[in-house]
Amino acid sequence: MRIVVTGGAGFIGSHVIDAYRAAGHDVLVIDSLWEHGGGRRANVPENVSLVHMDVRDEAIGRVFADFAPEIVSHHAAQHSVAISARDPLYDAQINVIGLLNVLECAQKSGVRKVIFASSGATFGTPERLPITDDTPQHPSSPYGITKMVGEHYLRFYKASRGLDFTALRYGNVYGPRQDPNGEAGVISVFIGKFLAHEPVRIDWDGDQTRDYVFVEDIARVNLAALERGSGGCYVIGTGVRTSVNQIYRRLVEITGFEAPVIHAPQRPGDARDAQFDATRARLELGWTPSTDLPDGIRATYEYFERLSGRGV
Ligand SMILES: NC(=O)c1ccc[n+]([C@@H]2O[C@H](COP(=O)([O-])OP(=O)(O)OC[C@H]3O[C@@H](n4cnc5c(N)ncnc54)[C@H](O)[C@@H]3O)[C@@H](O)[C@H]2O)c1
Repeated sequence: MRIVVTGGAGFIGSHVIDAYRAAGHDVLVIDSLWEHGGGRRANVPENVSLVHMDVRDEAIGRVFADFAPEIVSHHAAQHSVAISARDPLYDAQINVIGLLNVLECAQKSGVRKVIFASSGATFGTPERLPITDDTPQHPSSPYGITKMVGEHYLRFYKASRGLDFTALRYGNVYGPRQDPNGEAGVISVFIGKFLAHEPVRIDWDGDQTRDYVFVEDIARVNLAALERGSGGCYVIGTGVRTSVNQIYRRLVEITGFEAPVIHAPQRPGDARDAQFDATRARLELGWTPSTDLPDGIRATYEYFERLSGRGV
């Protein structure tokens, strides 16, 4: 199949490319290499074409017409909750107008299906855990709002224009190539600090939990969505809650180094816990996560250790 991956120079998108290519598909990347994102030219394999373009650019229509993709995997986004809170206008320009431009161009050039990187942030802080696909969506950040709006637009384009979709509502994704200098992605941020022998910052009491999913499992669900999950939105998580303190302890175990800890207050709007029940993804996409967190943290640590050329 011919597949366009928007945001393919980023953390998750680049692993999605790897999975598509390993399955024999032909991939083209569109990415603006946004300065605040995790996009790097080096994340795109040498023999994959990268079109340096913003998803809001109408010229995407020409790129689609030339490449004639059957699928668009839409991973390009303003991906930061904090930036969305500071600048909701910018967030909506990329995550809503950019998506609409992609959908318009996709539909006009005969794309069969759009796979959309949605988010657990569309649920905000739910009344009860785990979050399922039937949990009401009450996003508490502009980022969560624009991702939820994206799902509604996908339903509209399927109903009115026949453009199929699958939306994948990821939990907290981690793994190799995640930006260790970003403001999110606690696992890669901590690994960066452990390798540099610097203190790590733990907000709140460190017992807040998240549902961490290894990026190769995310790549596999993107592969499944090529053929399955027509018109569906799926919660994608492991069902396991892990605290920041547990991640810290795991890194101490792996490295033998007790990184100094700086304690900081709760970040405004930070949820206490998150946990996702991906039963529908298992039943309809045939997907289950296969990497548990201790192994995934080790694999991520070893990747960054190789990159930096040193251990602790
Ligand atoms: N990382 C997570 O835990 C997580 C969780 C839920 C959803 N998501 C979603 O998954 C997708 C990928 O996230 P990621 O963590 O890999 O982030 P990332 O920043 O590493 O990747 C996003 C890519 O999009 C590109 N991009 C940004 N703005 C663009 C624009 N205007 N035009 C073209 N390209 C643009 C960036 O250059 C980058 O390469 C995003 O849609 C994000 O919202 C991520």
